[in-house]
Amino acid sequence: MKTIIEPFRIKSVEPLKLTTRDERSGILSRAQWNLFRIAAEDILIDLLTDSGTGAMSAEQWAAMMRGDESYAGARSWFRFEREVRELTGLAHVIPTHQGRAAERILFSCLDVAGKVVVSNTHFDTTRANVEHLGGRAIDVPIEEALHPERVHPFKGNLDLAALERVLDGGDTVACVIATVTNNSGGGQPASMRNLRAAAALCRSRRVPFYLDACRFAENAYFIKLREEGYGDKSPRAIAQEMFSLADGATFSAKKDGLANIGGFLATNDARLAGMEKDLLILTEGFPTYGGLAGRDLEAIAVGLREVLEEDYLRYRLASIRYLGNALTEVGMPIVQPPGGHAVYIDAGALLPHVPAVELPGQALACAFYLEGGIRGVEIGSLMFGGKDPFGHEDRAAPLELLRLAIPRRTYTQSHMDYVAEVAASIMDRRETLRGYRIVEQAPHLRHFTAKLAPIDRY
Ligand code: F0G
Repeated sequence: MKTIIEPFRIKSVEPLKLTTRDERSGILSRAQWNLFRIAAEDILIDLLTDSGTGAMSAEQWAAMMRGDESYAGARSWFRFEREVRELTGLAHVIPTHQGRAAERILFSCLDVAGKVVVSNTHFDTTRANVEHLGGRAIDVPIEEALHPERVHPFKGNLDLAALERVLDGGDTVACVIATVTNNSGGGQPASMRNLRAAAALCRSRRVPFYLDACRFAENAYFIKLREEGYGDKSPRAIAQEMFSLADGATFSAKKDGLANIGGFLATNDARLAGMEKDLLILTEGFPTYGGLAGRDLEAIAVGLREVLEEDYLRYRLASIRYLGNALTEVGMPIVQPPGGHAVYIDAGALLPHVPAVELPGQALACAFYLEGGIRGVEIGSLMFGGKDPFGHEDRAAPLELLRLAIPRRTYTQSHMDYVAEVAASIMDRRETLRGYRIVEQAPHLRHFTAKLAPIDRY
């Protein structure tokens, strides 16, 4: 059969609230045109993020009931540790409440101050944690990653020549961290060959090679589908091979852990692990729970197995491709090919009449909400741009994108058909979309809280 179905049926449902266009217009203006400021109840289809927003399985809920909430040495901890070790092959496992806690602890213990961290593309929290500790975050994506329309099977690859230049450039490199899949670069995978070559470059310079492994399973399945020699391997074997290249990993279980919260930091370096556990105790919790409940550790332990089931991964990538193709059909330019967890619309190309300083990605985000109650997230100059010392907007992001991220096992095909219909209706009136200006903003990570105003009401 050609139809790839959702490999599950639904046992528990949450109603969605329908709103009228007029109601949404009021909600949007009360939120000052920042979708983070809208109550989730007022959203029809929430594609803000795939992080912690997925549906858990009956097995995960059952495991949660068996959670052992002992402070030290809980049974749930040993189960979690065993699962992570068997998957990653990494010796020391440190649980954390989510990915960014793992990042903060890692970069603190590697003492990145005055040093450089290199990645295909740092995720925003990863970059912010490096910079907050006085380090410099350098991205070395391949050239194709900067061109939304260019198709490449592994757009998440690191540019190996650029990596080598940084490694030999005179700065002390604290670590290299490959983000799989590369979220900020369009949810694109890195190939095994590229990861192996990057790891070898690091090893020969004695620089630790890490994976930011949030979406390791989606990356592993792309390798199975696209890389020669992997078609017959199981996603689990491919994932294990990816981890075998790394000296350590950071992980947010809110993505490919299929859980609503959690994460870990893992390493083969015993001395580093000791320092990391000391810091963990200071701010997160004892090393056998790390800020998580025993039941969370159980849910993640089960999730790490389920996420590598082939039926699940086939459906997962097919569902993203389905939305990507539907948007392409109505004429929306997207980052090609569609990624593993989200479709990224090229708002810069779609709205050439809205300059970067007027935030075309945000203009499109607001249009999706107004038109159909759909929430996405701008990944463009609102997120990555900035002001000069005189308060003028002067730094634009390299791309103006709107990300529609799809929560795992949560929405059905008809929800995606609806998104495409909304997209078609936006296409019909795209010339009428106007830009936005920022009226209030925080000094860091401004997109979360900024207040905006339309330059001309849409
Ligand atoms: N690394 C990557 C590649 C991520 O996508 C995220 C989170 C993190 C690290 C941080 O993990 O949220 O558990 O602290 N990404 C979410 C997103 C927030 O919407 O893409 P966290």
